[in-house]
Amino acid sequence: MRRAIYPGSFDPVTNGHLDIIERGCKLFDEIVVAVVVNPAKQPLFNLEERREMLQEVLVGIEGRGCQLLVDNFEGLLMKYAVERGADAVVRGIRAFSDYEYELQMALMNRRLEPRIETVFMMPAEAYSYVSSRLVKEVFQLGGTIKGLVPDSVEIRMEQKFGKGSIRE
Ligand code: PNS
Repeated sequence: MRRAIYPGSFDPVTNGHLDIIERGCKLFDEIVVAVVVNPAKQPLFNLEERREMLQEVLVGIEGRGCQLLVDNFEGLLMKYAVERGADAVVRGIRAFSDYEYELQMALMNRRLEPRIETVFMMPAEAYSYVSSRLVKEVFQLGGTIKGLVPDSVEIRMEQKFGKGSIRE
């Protein structure tokens, strides 16, 4: 039984995240999608909303051979991963620019907990430029995010901001 943690802010979950989860499902029996609670950060969607959005969209991937769970954690990822009995942490790498930061984290995490491996996965090229940060910015400025986030997330964004001129 191989269990991985897929940690992140997921503010909000994008199709790039889902792509990584689907790929991770081929490698692991169980993936715990773990939303970080960072009291120093002010997310757009609160913890409950982020968890709900994940629950909604993961239903679409379930039944593909791995168990998917949504959870949240606060504090050190490695402490949480040990408590969860995880074998690995999954992180998506889109471009070379992601690599330096991810490498630093992976090596620090390895130092903290050598037993737990970090597995880097590449999303489909179509999502190589998609980030939660850009999705929020484009949407708030009236641009379309269709195809970049699940439909249910787009609806939540509309509920928060209304429909923009370019989107309609
Ligand atoms: O989606 P994000 O914001 O890129 O995710 C970053 C995340 C949650 C993976 C990272 O901030 C994290 O692991 N936070 C938990 C605190 C921690 O363990 N810090 C030390 C990392 S070496």
